Amino acid sequence: MKVLALSGNVKRPSRTAALVSVLVKRLSERFDVETDFIELVDAAPVLFKALRADQLDAAGRAIVDAVEGADILVVGSPVYRASYSGALKHLFDLVDYRALAGKRVLLVATGGTPLHGLMTEHQFRPLFGFFNTITVPTAIYATESDFIGHELASDAVSDRVDRALAELASITPLLRSIGSSAEPARLKQRA
Ligand SMILES: Cc1cc2nc3c(=O)[nH]c(=O)nc-3n(C[C@H](O)[C@H](O)[C@H](O)COP(=O)(O)O)c2cc1C
Repeated sequence: MKVLALSGNVKRPSRTAALVSVLVKRLSERFDVETDFIELVDAAPVLFKALRADQLDAAGRAIVDAVEGADILVVGSPVYRASYSGALKHLFDLVDYRALAGKRVLLVATGGTPLHGLMTEHQFRPLFGFFNTITVPTAIYATESDFIGHELASDAVSDRVDRALAELASITPLLRSIGSSAEPARLKQRA
């Protein structure tokens, strides 16, 4: 299955990109997937040349095609002004409204304050509801204090990553665990 990771960061280094990378690494260690990673710090200058999908150049079209062609999306963003970044929204404004129906989506965000942790529920999840995707129930949110530099350093956030991946496996019948091709990954009961 094709996994596309998107990170809405518009600067580098980025805590959001680091957290999305943790997910992608564990996904590719545990499941039979092809992965690709697009950061908006690279993609936004290309995408903002187009205000509508019919104005995309070849490089912009390739980015939108990658989103539309993925089976699973890992979508992360820094919280900006209590929502996901405008650069990430611009990308999704260019995606065909029918293209993501039924795809699985993992939601990831980083912010400066725990008070904005529900951005994933109040801003991110409705965006993917519009696209008729199936979002994984556990979203992953980390604050600046969960990192040392730009490396994830929180066991609680790390455990949430594992839980989200188990949920993804439980709602994605075609996602095969590496090493047990006959057996799909199972979601452990929460203690
Ligand atoms: C323009 C701007 C707006 C921000 N708005 C918020 C906000 O509303 N809530 C919040 O918790 N953090 C806010 N932050 C902090 C970032 O979300 C936080 O530092 C994040 O981890 C940065 O991610 P990055 O390292 O991937 O860029 C803002 C930062 C910037 C630069």
